[in-house]
Amino acid sequence: MTIKRVGIIGSGIMGSGIAEVAAKSGYEVVLRSRQQATADAMVAALEKSLNKQVEKGKLEESERDATLGRVSATSDLHKLKDCDLVIESIVEDLVVKKELFRELNHICKDDAILATNTSTLPIVEMAMETHRPEQVVGVHFFNPAPMMALVEIVKSIVTGDEVAAEVKAFAESCGKSPVIVEDRAGFIVNALLFPYLNNAVKMLENGIASMEDIDTAMKGGCNFPMGPFALLDLVGLDTSVAILDALYDEFRDPNFSPAPALRRMVTAGHLGRKSGKGFYDYSR
Ligand code: CAA
Ligand code: NAD
Repeated sequence: MTIKRVGIIGSGIMGSGIAEVAAKSGYEVVLRSRQQATADAMVAALEKSLNKQVEKGKLEESERDATLGRVSATSDLHKLKDCDLVIESIVEDLVVKKELFRELNHICKDDAILATNTSTLPIVEMAMETHRPEQVVGVHFFNPAPMMALVEIVKSIVTGDEVAAEVKAFAESCGKSPVIVEDRAGFIVNALLFPYLNNAVKMLENGIASMEDIDTAMKGGCNFPMGPFALLDLVGLDTSVAILDALYDEFRDPNFSPAPALRRMVTAGHLGRKSGKGFYDYSR
């Protein structure tokens, strides 16, 4: 099967980024959010992002127009029935994702590939909600999706080899550098990255150094583009806690047990950049 039409579900940070990547790479893209107004807002945000690239001289006006022409927005999941590949990028919650896979299984054409952008959750759990578990695969983009080279292709024990190969080719056609990884919580990157981020919060809680100094240290000392607190704010603290919970559930390693401050910040609605406040304040 040749992938031409791609459905993207979820209008958050990642859904929007993946939509931009796929549409710019020449795919027809159907964006689905639960509310039409949010789906329309995604298209408006995409147009704004493309306009910025035109202003910077990185994109031709004709490419911008062609990209936008390939994108449609809907609140109706049934509009995804003809998609060759559907990538869900909704909240990191297994119960919610499983329910979505049950719906997609009934709506999407038989040979469609159903993919999840989950950061940590077991692919096999979503696969087994469908009658086509071999066609379910993880396609894990990184944040911000338009800028980050990596895509982890996550194979569950029931994912077909040809399905993994097709989504790998899809990621390459989007200009990304895919790697293949088995279905274990956190895959490659998050299994290594999140103990580091979590321990940075624990270090702050223990009064070892200020948040600003920890960020400065990791940028200057390791040449990381962002320190751990800026990165947690970029990822989103609710998503970060969900990732740590899933890692802890699977491995019971204390390094994965979320630092107490993280959960309290989520309860307070301090989610990072997306809510205007996390470790840093983005409201001004
Ligand atoms: N969305 C889209 N584009 C963005 C962006 C965003 N949120 N933030 C910055 N950019 C773009 C800018 O438009 C700019 O583009 P051009 O070069 O085309 O003009 C480019 O990125 C550089 O931006 P800046 O000069 O403002 O900032 P920067 O040089 O510091 O780069 C960054 C920004 C790319 C985000 C960089 O800081 C970085 O790489 N940070 C680390 C990101 C990272 O580690 N991501 C992985 C998170 S973990 C994950 O994603 C997995 C998971 O499951 C949670
Ligand atoms: P986000 O909070 O920005 O967006 C979440 C989206 O899920 C929103 O569109 C929201 O409306 C939708 N949603 C929330 N509850 C829902 C429900 N009950 N039913 C259907 N939709 C619902 O989150 P995000 O950062 O874009 O993360 C989306 C997915 O991508 C998650 O699985 C996350 O783990 C993964 N991911 C996140 C990052 C990151 O850095 N944030 C990176 C890679 C992968």
